[in-house]
Amino acid sequence: MATKIGEKVQNFYNKTPFPDYELDKFNSKDDLVISAYPFAKILDRSIPQNATVIDVGTGTGQLSAFLSLRRKCVWGIDFSDSSLNKARQLKEKLKLDSWHLKKVDILDSKQIEAIGMKFDYVLCLGVLHHTGNAYGGFKNILRLLKPKGYIAVGLYNKMGRVPLKMRKTLAKTIFKDNNKVKDWFIRMQIGDVEDKERARGWWNDQYLHPHETSHTIGEVLRWFKKNNIAYYQTVPASTPFYQGNLEIAGVWNDTNEAYPNFPIRAYNQISWIWKTHHEGGYWITFGRREN
Ligand SMILES: C[S@@+](CC[C@H](N)C(=O)[O-])C[C@H]1O[C@@H](n2cnc3c(N)ncnc32)[C@H](O)[C@@H]1O
Repeated sequence: MATKIGEKVQNFYNKTPFPDYELDKFNSKDDLVISAYPFAKILDRSIPQNATVIDVGTGTGQLSAFLSLRRKCVWGIDFSDSSLNKARQLKEKLKLDSWHLKKVDILDSKQIEAIGMKFDYVLCLGVLHHTGNAYGGFKNILRLLKPKGYIAVGLYNKMGRVPLKMRKTLAKTIFKDNNKVKDWFIRMQIGDVEDKERARGWWNDQYLHPHETSHTIGEVLRWFKKNNIAYYQTVPASTPFYQGNLEIAGVWNDTNEAYPNFPIRAYNQISWIWKTHHEGGYWITFGRREN
């Protein structure tokens, strides 16, 4: 049974699926490749072709659809029927046979177990901070991860999210009726507002969401430690002067020597106030199950 927060969030995404897109934009598998964002391409290159992947909280599913193009088994799960319906239409239209979609509430361990398999890669991007129980959700999705499997968790950062919260206050007050300013705010995040469905999806998700929490790097490191997940890296990097090239190195790099200790984390998160403000303070932590 969904919690009160869960119900609100589910209703929200049923009304305004995310990230959303105009279905007409996708007429062939090539269109998925053309429209894939640079980070999706980096993920695609970082995950071996023979790996099994699950995208938890896949929404309307562009990422999992794209990843399924080169793989035999990619799952997308979500608890929003509207988002999954859009994803199913895309699946049918492009005949994406290796893309599996299922309605699952990630806070419900029985529903998670009912999936009946474990994966080499578990992605959970931009989801846990909308559940009302981010750590509970994290523990549950580990049930889907194979021993030695890889995980990516994307969350809003406590410091990095501050500018977006300020923009949100401005959008609700002084600029309540000013669509130009609202367009500008959303363009900051997604570059353009040409795809109306997408722009609306982003606006709702970032500015009108009924529930969000924000987190620190230290918190996620503790989640990892308690559950035997080795820390690999964050994007953006948690180490100052990071020189790695994600395009080449990929995103699951074991950075043992560069473990972000407290002063480094504090320094970085303060810098994320301006460095990640375009992305609303979003960051991703990568790790690997130790056994
Ligand atoms: C911000 S969207 C992220 C979508 C996608 N992962 C992305 O990065 O574009 C959050 C998604 O998480 C889903 N979600 C939130 N709470 C959930 C829960 N308890 N169980 C399953 N899905 C959930 C929502 O329905 C929504 O589609």
